[in-house]
Amino acid sequence: MPGVVIIGGQWGDEGKGRVVDRFARDADVVVRFNGGNNAGHTIVVDGKKIILHLIPSGILYSGKKCVITEGVVIDPKVLIEEINNLRANGFFKDDSALLISKNAHIIMPYHKLIDRLREEKKGERKIGTTGRGIGPAYEDKVARTGIRFGELIEPEIFKSRLKELLDEKNLYIEKVLKGNGVSFDSVFTEYSEYASIIKKYASNTLDFLYNSLKNKKKIMFEAAQGVLLDIDFGTYPYVTASHTTPASASIGSGVSHFAIKEVIGVIKAYTTRVGEGPFPTELHSEEGDYLREKGGEYGSTTGRPRRCGWLDGALLKYVVRISGVTGLAITKLDVLSGLKTLKVCVGYKTKSGVKKEITAGEVFENVEPLYEELPGWNEEITGINRFTKLPRNARRYLRFIEKMVGVPIIFVSTGQSREDAIIIKNPFK
Ligand code: IMP
Repeated sequence: MPGVVIIGGQWGDEGKGRVVDRFARDADVVVRFNGGNNAGHTIVVDGKKIILHLIPSGILYSGKKCVITEGVVIDPKVLIEEINNLRANGFFKDDSALLISKNAHIIMPYHKLIDRLREEKKGERKIGTTGRGIGPAYEDKVARTGIRFGELIEPEIFKSRLKELLDEKNLYIEKVLKGNGVSFDSVFTEYSEYASIIKKYASNTLDFLYNSLKNKKKIMFEAAQGVLLDIDFGTYPYVTASHTTPASASIGSGVSHFAIKEVIGVIKAYTTRVGEGPFPTELHSEEGDYLREKGGEYGSTTGRPRRCGWLDGALLKYVVRISGVTGLAITKLDVLSGLKTLKVCVGYKTKSGVKKEITAGEVFENVEPLYEELPGWNEEITGINRFTKLPRNARRYLRFIEKMVGVPIIFVSTGQSREDAIIIKNPFK
């Protein structure tokens, strides 16, 4: 059975957790392959709000295998808190449900410190990172100075790797960033304790995924963040430190790209962004506040208020093109109820003329969004789960998006709960 990748089609927070959760029912294996606990996937199950930062959303069903591969950076403290929270809510009863690659890199205390001190130092030029140490951990991976999960769980190896690295890290923290370095003893003791708790999940995920594919298991790859935050294809430098396009499912997990047959692009019915960086359709008006309040647009990882704006079709076309999206999942359509008129950006006025599609790098230039206006609807649509039951103007809005990007909509969410959704096509069926 081919793999299905679920990606974010905007700047993250599109509601991927919802979509993964819905389709994970029909998958055997759910994989996280990029990012770290900068992500936050919120799922409401039986009225309980569960936020997952690291563990794949498939963990909310029993009998699924959930895999964290080498492309992910792991904060062990956060992982343990997440495991405990899941258990406290009656999930994740079977340890064998979680497999973590021994090659995944570990986020260390100095990564978090460096991330925060650098942002402070940058002042107005800050990126607005989540402060979780993601960038510095990926930097160490690329510099070949990272500590991997397989090393963390071997006490002697961990000790010598930490000794080898810490002097240089502390020198940088103290002399360049003017912060206080971290002590070897406290880091070693704290992280050894974490290692002893999570050691049991260490696996060769490469072999596991290979054999799962061979045995015709259905695999769902769950991306973190959104394509516009991709390190190469996003709005650099206001991006995250890893790849977020579907190709990273293959690179981050070691599964052949031929195994990936469907790419579901998740987009919110409007646009949000956290952190700094360009956002041409951002609303600094009552409509923006309406979206933020009605949509509960506050970060699930940092609690920061999200910037809100109209749907950007010109950027969406770019995302669909570079990601090979085969189906769209539209989330939070219910949030738009009550707005008299909806605007969709259908192109940009740029120095070199009007563009109907724009690449993420170009939105830095002096660009002006061009809008098409569509009539809104007043009816609340929460819980509707048939397309034909939607108000006429809501259907029209969805049809407009489909036509604009040339990809069919396969899923629409109409409320917070698991069942508040319209399923048009299930990628596993
Ligand atoms: P970092 O990933 O913490 O380094 O943050 C870099 C940028 O990506 C910042 O603008 C963050 O707000 C943004 N970012 C990282 N992860 C997410 C996410 O899961 N959702 C939305 N934005 C994110």
